[in-house]
Amino acid sequence: MTSAQKEGRYERIYSQLQELLKGSPNKVARMATIAAVLHHKMDYFFWTGFYLLDEGELIVGPYQGSLACIKLKKDTGVCWAGINRGETVVVPDVHRFPGHIACDSRSNSEIVVPLKDKDGKIIGVLDVDSKELGSFDEVDAKWLEKILEIDGH
Ligand code: SME
Repeated sequence: MTSAQKEGRYERIYSQLQELLKGSPNKVARMATIAAVLHHKMDYFFWTGFYLLDEGELIVGPYQGSLACIKLKKDTGVCWAGINRGETVVVPDVHRFPGHIACDSRSNSEIVVPLKDKDGKIIGVLDVDSKELGSFDEVDAKWLEKILEIDGH
């Protein structure tokens, strides 16, 4: 998919999610809705979901795709890198990322975007995997960050 095609697709998804999430502040409902819309509208999204901080551990939240690891080994892999760096992490080839945790061996590239509460504190990450190498770029980063900031009121 070209950058221009991605932009168009994300613009439509963003508008749809703004409508869907309006008046729905419930966190689980929001995460489930975001995962479902993204997973079914973006062809290259092979696994789409959330990992959430819970008493210092990173535990799986709402997701779409194949069965995922429930708990991620602390300070290891891409999701923990997103938490610890406090910024989006784009991984073109997961096999070259030290400590990458392979919940499904078919994943080849990945993006992780920190999820923040209303005070700006990181509470988890949105994680998306692709079966292709190099699926994610700055267009995905920009739109996924925007999607996580959609207001629920
Ligand atoms: N690959 C992730 C683990 C989660 S799965 O991709 C669903 C990581 O290295 O943190």
